[in-house]
Amino acid sequence: MITVHTIRELREHVRNARNSGRRIGFVPTMGNLHEGHISLIERSLTADCFTVSSIFVNPLQFNDKSDLARYPRTLPADQEKLAAAGCDLLFAPDVDEMYPNGQDAQSIVHVPVVSEGLCGGSRPGHFDGVSTVVSKLFNQVLPDMAFFGEKDFQQVAVIRKMVNDLCMPVEIVPVPTKRAADGLALSSRNGYLSAEERALAPGLYQTLSEIADDFKAGKDLSDSLKNAEERLNQRGFRTDYLEIRRTSDLAPATLNDHSVVVLGAAFLGSARLIDNLQVTLNQAND
Ligand code: PAF
Repeated sequence: MITVHTIRELREHVRNARNSGRRIGFVPTMGNLHEGHISLIERSLTADCFTVSSIFVNPLQFNDKSDLARYPRTLPADQEKLAAAGCDLLFAPDVDEMYPNGQDAQSIVHVPVVSEGLCGGSRPGHFDGVSTVVSKLFNQVLPDMAFFGEKDFQQVAVIRKMVNDLCMPVEIVPVPTKRAADGLALSSRNGYLSAEERALAPGLYQTLSEIADDFKAGKDLSDSLKNAEERLNQRGFRTDYLEIRRTSDLAPATLNDHSVVVLGAAFLGSARLIDNLQVTLNQAND
C-alpha cells in the first residue's frame, strides 16, 4: 500500500488506476481503525475497486475543541491494518493541505433538514464539518463508490442527500455496523471507556433493542422512549437522545411506519457513544 500526503500525489495515483481500467472505491476515515473500518475496505475490494482510504481528523466537524485534542492519532498502526486488509492507497493529508486558507475561510456545504436534530442537535455545526470535508475528499479522490458505516446512520443520510442534491457522481454504499460479541457497536470512542464502563457499554444497544421490541408490539412511542431513557440512565449512562425515526428520510416515526430506525446517543463517563437499530415490519402496526 502506498501512503501519500498531498492532493497532487493522490490524484496522480488515482488517475493511473483509472487509466488502467479500474473503478475507484473510497473509504474516508479519521483513523484509529477497528474492524468496522476494515469491513468497509473489504466491501470496496469485493466490488473490485482500486481502494483508496483517507485518514484525516477533521477539525471542522468537532464542535468541542477538547474532543478534537484528545481524538486518537495512530497512523503507523492504521497503515499496517489497511495494508493487511488489501487497501491500495492511503491519503493522509495534514490540516494545511485540506484547509490551505484556514478553516474560517473555507466554503461550507450545509445539508438542510437531515442535519438537524439527533447528533446535529447535540453537536452544532458537526454535520456542516462532515459534509464539507467529505465533498472536498470526493473532489480530490473522484471515487465511483464510497463506503460508510451505518453506525453513523444520520451521517450516511446527510452524505446521501448531499450527493443527491449536488449531483455528485458517486454511489454511496452503507455497510452494516460491526459489533463486539456483547452487542457494543465498534467505535474509536470505545477506547475512552474504563474497564468498568466497558462492561456497562452494551446497555445502549440493549436499550435500543427494547425500544424496537416496543415498536413491534405497537406500544405508544413516547411512553416507550421515556421509559427507555430511565432504564438507560439506570444502566449507568447519561442519555443524550433516544428517538425513533423513519428509515427513508429520518422524519419522526409513527406506529403506521413499516421501516424505522431507533437511534440513541448517551454519555458513559467522558465517552459519548452512539448506536442505532433498524426495524422493518412486514405490515403496518394497525
Ligand atoms: O465517519 C467519520 O469517520 C468521519 O465523519 C468522516 C466521514 C471520515 C468525515 O471526516
